Amino acid sequence: MSIAVIGSNNTDLITYITRMPVEGETIEALDFEIGFGGKGSNQAIAAAKLGTKVTMVTCVGDDAFGETYLQNYRNNDIDTSFVKQVHGTSGVAPIFVDQESHNSIIIVKGANKGLTPEDLEEAADAISECSLIVLQLEIAFETVKAAIALGNRLGIPVLLNPAPATKELDLALAAKCQYVMPNETELELLTGLPTSTDDEVRVAAQVLLDAGCTNVIVTLGSRGVWWLSADGGDVRLEQFPAKAIDTTGAGDAFIGCFSHCLSEGLNEAEALELANAYAALSVTGRGTQKSYRDAQEFSAWLSEVGSNLATSRVFGL
Ligand code: RIB
Repeated sequence: MSIAVIGSNNTDLITYITRMPVEGETIEALDFEIGFGGKGSNQAIAAAKLGTKVTMVTCVGDDAFGETYLQNYRNNDIDTSFVKQVHGTSGVAPIFVDQESHNSIIIVKGANKGLTPEDLEEAADAISECSLIVLQLEIAFETVKAAIALGNRLGIPVLLNPAPATKELDLALAAKCQYVMPNETELELLTGLPTSTDDEVRVAAQVLLDAGCTNVIVTLGSRGVWWLSADGGDVRLEQFPAKAIDTTGAGDAFIGCFSHCLSEGLNEAEALELANAYAALSVTGRGTQKSYRDAQEFSAWLSEVGSNLATSRVFGL
């Protein structure tokens, strides 16, 4: 089955640093790279690399970044029929990665703000053929609301990654999504509850479930990931072991792989295991999309690290 990703594209401007400069200070960085990013597109590319047919609904600018990005979708066999192009600058994201692989990200939405509810209606027929809508918050909020309404109208499950966190998103809207995938900070903002410990995360996730959401998957960074569902599903995984070089986009790799697995008919618990491993593999390389491996590479890595996760069924290998 195919999936639709309604979301952002950014060109990532990644600077590798030893530390952040203080005000008024100039420091020399270690290295710099330009890469393809944006939460929506990262998730789309991860799923596509693993073999999912992806329809991308996004908006690029008419600058060099926009043109190059279109080519990036084509190179990854992503359907670009609903990639709109507007006059102006494309989305960019200056990113700073330190030697402990921690990152800080600034996003400049640019053309991403140009994706409208009307654009979604134009894509509605194609979206109605998909098994899942994958959505984040790097586009105009009215378009996010329209995407959720469209999914509900078409009867297609919506997977919402409420990132970056915004107070515009409330519980009632999130509860209209079948899958809500926040990190601890996003869960805290959404529920107004603390999320520092596992007990607190469980209470906060339960608030989302009580509001009507079917599945809550909380990504906990180095503490792993937790899936809780309205019908009693409860799987808590530790972080899959891997040597981290650059963690940028690991959450998106997780969501892309999870979406791929769901579209291949796996259940949530199975999808969670594979997505946890795929996110770990992504942190072993630099960059965002650049660090996403294809099905064959993922499978080979799993064997190399001695994992017995069965991949042939989901990756057609
Ligand atoms: O999640 C990582 C992504 O956040 C980066 O690719 C950057 O573009 C921002 O959207």
